[in-house]
Amino acid sequence: MARAEISFHLSDDAATARLGRWLAPRLTAGDCLLLEGPIGAGKSHLARALIRARLGREEDVPSPTFTLVQSYEAGDVEIWHADLYRLTHPDEAVELGLEAAFQTAICLVEWPDRLGTLAPSDALRLRLSAEGEGRRATLSATDDRHGALLAELAREQEGA
Ligand SMILES: Nc1ncnc2c1ncn2[C@@H]1O[C@H](COP(=O)(O)OP(=O)(O)O)[C@@H](O)[C@H]1O
Ligand SMILES: [Mg+2]
Repeated sequence: MARAEISFHLSDDAATARLGRWLAPRLTAGDCLLLEGPIGAGKSHLARALIRARLGREEDVPSPTFTLVQSYEAGDVEIWHADLYRLTHPDEAVELGLEAAFQTAICLVEWPDRLGTLAPSDALRLRLSAEGEGRRATLSATDDRHGALLAELAREQEGA
C-alpha cells in the first residue's frame, strides 16, 4: 500500500495521553510503535498513558532512560517500553532482546533511529514536535492494518 500519514495538533499533555489511550487497545502482539521527536517532546508521556490503559491500572511507568527497557505483562501479551537514547550500536538492541520482542510483544520505542536497520519495516511511526504551547503529532504507516488504523483516527479527528 501507499504510505499513509496523518498529522494533527495536541494542545496539551492531556491530549497526548488521550492519543496513547486511543492506541492502547488497537495494538496487538508483534506491533511496534516508534516514538520519534526531541527530548521533552512527550514520547514517554504518551507511552505511559498507553501502557496504563492497556494494563487497566495506574501502574508506575518510569522512563526507561537508564534501564533502556522496561517490560510489562498485559494479559497474554508483553509490552516493551524502550528508550534507546544511550544506545551506541544497534547490536546492543539485539543483546537487550529487542529484536526477539519485535516478533512477540507490543514494543514502544523512543529514539528508534538508534536501531539502524533493525527497526521493523512495518512499524507504526509517531513523531512529536513542538507546536505553539502544545505538540504536533504525525503518524505514519506502511502496512494495510496500520493504514486502516490511521484512517479510523483521521475520521475521529474530523468528527471531534
Ligand atoms: N501536547 C502537549 N503539550 C504540552 N506539553 C506536553 C504535551 N504532551 C506532553 N507534554 C509534556 O512534555 C513533557 C516532556 O514529556 P516526556 O514524555 O518526558 O518527553 P520525552 O520522553 O519525549 O523526552 C512532559 O512534562 C509532558 O507533560
Ligand atoms: Mg522519554
